[in-house]
Amino acid sequence: MSGHETGGEPTDWESWSQSWKHHHLLGLELHSAEEIQSILDLAELFAQASQEGRNRLTLLRGFTVANLFFENSTRTRNSFSLAAKRLGADTVEFSSAGSSTSKGETFIDTAKTIEAMGVDAVVVRHATPGTPHLLAKHLSCSVLNAGDGPHEHPTQGLLDILTIRQHRGSLKGLTVGLIGDIEHSRTARSNIWGLQKLGAHVIVCGPATLVSRRWKQLGVETSHRLDDILPRCDVLNLLRIQFERQTMRPFPSVHEYGLLYAMTKERLARSKPDVLILAPGPINRGVELTSEVADGHHSVILHQVANGISIRMAVLWLLLGRRVASESFARG
Ligand code: CP
Repeated sequence: MSGHETGGEPTDWESWSQSWKHHHLLGLELHSAEEIQSILDLAELFAQASQEGRNRLTLLRGFTVANLFFENSTRTRNSFSLAAKRLGADTVEFSSAGSSTSKGETFIDTAKTIEAMGVDAVVVRHATPGTPHLLAKHLSCSVLNAGDGPHEHPTQGLLDILTIRQHRGSLKGLTVGLIGDIEHSRTARSNIWGLQKLGAHVIVCGPATLVSRRWKQLGVETSHRLDDILPRCDVLNLLRIQFERQTMRPFPSVHEYGLLYAMTKERLARSKPDVLILAPGPINRGVELTSEVADGHHSVILHQVANGISIRMAVLWLLLGRRVASESFARG
């Protein structure tokens, strides 16, 4: 069904999904600049529809989206679930805790079992890099990567980039600093792929134990001195220290990390006057940033959260929408 009204004009939702070539969303490394811009543009239309009070679209009525989360999540899981519901789809919520994986069922068998319940898309988060790519080989339904270890978190990258685009108009020519635990960050990789494709200059900055020189191979600038790069950055994305992925402590103490890398009001005063502060979350107040910065007027952290829903609506619609016309009779 097309012709949902947006701002008085009918939006031809179907044309968006008809032109989309991919069956899965595995990582931003695999998508062109034009495709990334399309996702952002469609997300803006869904956001506009929500702002106009149309939170209950029926575009994916009869479809089912399963969340398969083998790691904890607040933002990604709930916003994928809300996105599916706002498109009219049903959702299945799977958590490894309390499931039959504790009885020895393999990951692939678990995923195939969920798919056999009539699922059209699987959203997967797992600690092992490449898990969504493996699932895509074993399942017929669409697979969306909700974070695979330290590899990629494509919808996080997209919502970060959308937030920046909304506040700056374009990514072209901007300098974006990714600060903190780059080594273990899937958000860093997805940001790097997406931001560079859209014309931004990326600096990754953190302790040498968390920012090795090999990051230069991805085309980014590296730095170990936040105070040196602050005046050049239009955007600072403050990444969480991922202690759960570290085999050795990368710095003597959180206090010492904070002295060199935490975003404080003193550092804000030495930044560009209109610098944007992003954080993918979960945020650790007093570690990556102080409360004054997290809650201050440069912060767009809650805009990122809100954008997560429209980005996830966009990717679900792009992956599943072209099946609506062909299957509408079967699905009623
Ligand atoms: N940013 C992010 O992935 O947050 P969650 O772990 O809460 O999903």
